[in-house]
Amino acid sequence: MAQKIVVTGGAGYIGSHVAVELLSAGRDVLIIDDFSNAHPEALARIKELAPGNLELLERDLANPAHNDDIIAAVKAFGADSAIHLAGLKAVGQSVAEPMLYYRTNIGASLTLIRALDAANAKTIVFSSSATVYGELNDSPVDEAGKTGAANPYGRTKLIIEDMLKDLAAADGAWRVVNLRYFNPVGAHPSGRIGEDPNGVPNNLFPFIAQVAVGRRKKLMVFGDDYPTRDGTGIRDYIHVSDLARGHLAALDYLAGLENGGALDINLGTGAGYSVLEAVAAFKRASNRDVPYEIAPRREGDIAEVYANAKLAQKLLGWRAEKTIDEMCADHWRWQSNNPDGYNTKV
Ligand code: WQD
Repeated sequence: MAQKIVVTGGAGYIGSHVAVELLSAGRDVLIIDDFSNAHPEALARIKELAPGNLELLERDLANPAHNDDIIAAVKAFGADSAIHLAGLKAVGQSVAEPMLYYRTNIGASLTLIRALDAANAKTIVFSSSATVYGELNDSPVDEAGKTGAANPYGRTKLIIEDMLKDLAAADGAWRVVNLRYFNPVGAHPSGRIGEDPNGVPNNLFPFIAQVAVGRRKKLMVFGDDYPTRDGTGIRDYIHVSDLARGHLAALDYLAGLENGGALDINLGTGAGYSVLEAVAAFKRASNRDVPYEIAPRREGDIAEVYANAKLAQKLLGWRAEKTIDEMCADHWRWQSNNPDGYNTKV
């Protein structure tokens, strides 16, 4: 019988790619999304790319008034497990509005755990982030690295990781993987789903893509005086489709476990690219200019962070396969085919 997976935030950037991977692998999917950072058109595109049993519950996991509906829907769906992606993720906003982040990210997680418990579906893959490592470790960073987030967004990720570990320690029936994403970029090779941030993109790749497609004049490079090979920040960019496959591998790993438990696993490539190297790669892939200007460093940024990705390969039998050039080519195909994201009038 098809495994039945709840995907919270499943209409979003990572979520839509995870939903396509799960449906393509024959899983039934229930997306729970409030569309606060996602577009209904993404659902039509998911169905186009991966026909299968896809259900939607449009509710806010962080709204107590929605709890009963969510618990009832997860039970009615007959969930076996969940991939938990729903949450706010803008570092700067979290500094300005910390309680919004604690209320939303932790509240949503508490509701999901209640719903899974009620459905006796005690398996969860949580969308964590390399941001939990802060600036405390030399790269490549492995899962035993020191953790200590430098902002409320990162602290919500750490709190939820620890909450899930405590849950698994108290009730051995719970199976938990905290996936620590490095920097997801790119888009499904079809160009039909991709990153469509609200307003001005915080992250590098969507900003570069919007400059290349002419939506923005130029990129501000936040500092070229870091102690790195070209002075700009180095990050471990991972193709969102590789990342999505990592979620399926994590679910399969948990399904095969004799007993419950909780562990943290990095999802990265193990390689780092600088801002200027990413700009150059994007220019090669798009054959478009990407004008930029060197600007002051961004508050809270670190010089260099990339993954030790060995544990995912050892435990999940998964590793990132796509190159930086494929990441740029796929990101560009999405952006050039959808200059205004999901609002593009076709
Ligand atoms: C990458 C590099 C910037 C924008 C954040 C979150 C992390 C995760 C991914 C959610 C840095 C530089 C960026 C720009 C620039 N999000 N940059 N100009 O900061 O590594 O990680 O997003 O999980 O949790 O912390 O990603 O893409 O913002 O920055 O020069 O307009 O690009 O300084 O060196 P980051 P990013």
